[in-house]
Amino acid sequence: MSTIDLPLLVLGHDADPRSERGVDCPGALPAASDPDLVARARAAKEALGERVFVLGHHYQRDEVIAFADVTGDSFKLARDAAGRPEAEFIVFCGVHFMAESADILTGPEQKVILPDLAAGCSMADMARAGQVEDAWDALVDAGVADSVVPVTYMNSSADIKAFCGRHGGAVCTSSNAQVALEWAFDQTPDAKVLFLPDQHLGRNTAVLQLGLSLEDCVVWDPHRPHGGLTREELEKARVILWRGHCSVHGRFTPEVVDELRAKIPGINILVHPECRHDVVTRADLVGSTEFIIKTIEAAPPGSSWAIGTELNLVQRLANAHPDKNIVFLDRTVCYCSTMNRIDLPHFVWAMESLVAGQVVNQIQVDPETERWAKVALQRMLDLPARTAAKD
Ligand code: 13P
Ligand code: SF4
Repeated sequence: MSTIDLPLLVLGHDADPRSERGVDCPGALPAASDPDLVARARAAKEALGERVFVLGHHYQRDEVIAFADVTGDSFKLARDAAGRPEAEFIVFCGVHFMAESADILTGPEQKVILPDLAAGCSMADMARAGQVEDAWDALVDAGVADSVVPVTYMNSSADIKAFCGRHGGAVCTSSNAQVALEWAFDQTPDAKVLFLPDQHLGRNTAVLQLGLSLEDCVVWDPHRPHGGLTREELEKARVILWRGHCSVHGRFTPEVVDELRAKIPGINILVHPECRHDVVTRADLVGSTEFIIKTIEAAPPGSSWAIGTELNLVQRLANAHPDKNIVFLDRTVCYCSTMNRIDLPHFVWAMESLVAGQVVNQIQVDPETERWAKVALQRMLDLPARTAAKD
């Protein structure tokens, strides 16, 4: 019987803990209509005190962010998780790959909890361990693997991070992709980078920050034999981009950028580097979620901004800065559906379970994967600090 390698799973039909596809959430959740949810969350947090550390990614719902001890982009949250060794429980309000990274970077006695196990990431799902191993074998056959340094975006499973650790590579985030690529190119003479799994972040960084050309980049399609590339194309390439993307940031288009510029004179276009290259090249500023927040905080009153990133964050920024004109860079509503899975009922359920002495939804990376993923993550944490801003 042949199996179809679907990148996305219809939720509830199967469980594959090695993928980012999401699995059922066990347990009895409080009803979303329970008027006491906020009070219950507050009481559980108070009862746990210093034993719990709650991390909230910027794309989380307001109702969850309200209970976060720290908020941040994926880079900041990885550092924050690593910097709280005294917390017994790390409740990660984000997605699965972030919770895996927190588990890798925290001590063996610390427990990382993801309030809903179905909070995966469709981009992380686009690079699966078997596909990446096959691609590497093909690079070996093509005679180029010795000069290839793999760099994976944080938005990838622990398996892929471990692959990078084993093959002399590193992890990067949208805050430090430029320094990570510079580091990778310094690793061997004639180095090439295999960039996983977000082709847009890889292309935007290589072209707009490192000054490479679009022709220096080729796209490896895991669904085509040899990635759809010839040996000559691989030999010539400086960057081999994995054919993955974010389904949220992939929605922004150059047409809407042009429309908004025509409609709102003086508008600034501020986008995340997961957006398509033709969107990023039309933008005024590009950077991680942390960079987007800092830019809006520093913007003068009365200035106009169209922001191309997840809608929870854009709405929060618009509410926090009523003196600035902030609009969303898409014609339709566009939340990250998996980030949104962490809601107040799941948060309350996870926290109350901890109060009752029951650890639910613990994210645990197996020791061998953890060992190598940590190597790649540590290489990232050791990179010199620099932001991903284009200005
Ligand atoms: P950052 O928070 O690192 O900017 O990443 C955005 C994102 O898509 C997280 O899933
Ligand atoms: Fe994944 Fe995109 Fe959602 Fe981030 S915003 S978790 S990259 S699907």
